[in-house]
Amino acid sequence: MSIESEQDLRGLKAIGRIVAQVLSSMRRAVRPGITTTELDSIAAGELFRHGALSSPKEVYGFPGETCISVNDEVVHGVPGKRKLNAGDIVKLDVTAQKNGYVADACISVAVEPAGAIVSRLIKCAERAFDEAMKTASAGHRINEIGAAVERTVRGEGFNVVRELCGHGVGRTIHEEPLVPNYYHPRANRKLSEGLVITIEPIITAGRDAVHTLSDGWTIRTDDHARSAHFEHTIVITNGNPLVLTA
Ligand code: CO
Repeated sequence: MSIESEQDLRGLKAIGRIVAQVLSSMRRAVRPGITTTELDSIAAGELFRHGALSSPKEVYGFPGETCISVNDEVVHGVPGKRKLNAGDIVKLDVTAQKNGYVADACISVAVEPAGAIVSRLIKCAERAFDEAMKTASAGHRINEIGAAVERTVRGEGFNVVRELCGHGVGRTIHEEPLVPNYYHPRANRKLSEGLVITIEPIITAGRDAVHTLSDGWTIRTDDHARSAHFEHTIVITNGNPLVLTA
């Protein structure tokens, strides 16, 4: 969506704050032995307390409140009995809606003590996000975002998962435009003031090939390499983007 009123901005800021709070509660609970269902229950409680709903559940019938993906699971992991182990990397992806507004964010968390690759992957996804943010102002082209992500990720010796993109958001979970994590010649639309999108580097320590598991949701790397994902919902301005989910 594109912000058209003070009401739009207020509504988006409100759901953005809720998503940020849900993520911080989940992050605090990450430890060896906790199951992904237990993490999801924390999110369920927080969403309920704030009068918000899970968008993947409402829109797609996703079997959980949040997507929780571990190690070689890239995105859309289904909460279940799996217990986290020290050394795991867990991606907590929360998209929620309230009063007709939607925000989407994801963090990657190391289950400590974690190895060097996990720490590097997480830092790399966050840095790729920061580099992309520098290009994300009105008048710049969407593909500058992907170019910045890809340059940063390649520079660290990792790869972007090309099948998975950022996207427009705000009124529903997935809107136009697509925001690829690599330079796409045809993603040349200019960013305009008020446009609400996600920037979300999704990266792997291995090769860029993924498949969907038999649960119909979870996307995993073909080579079982670990992956990281970092995402915020932002508003395009004439200067620095406004981060709604921080
Ligand atoms: Co997203």
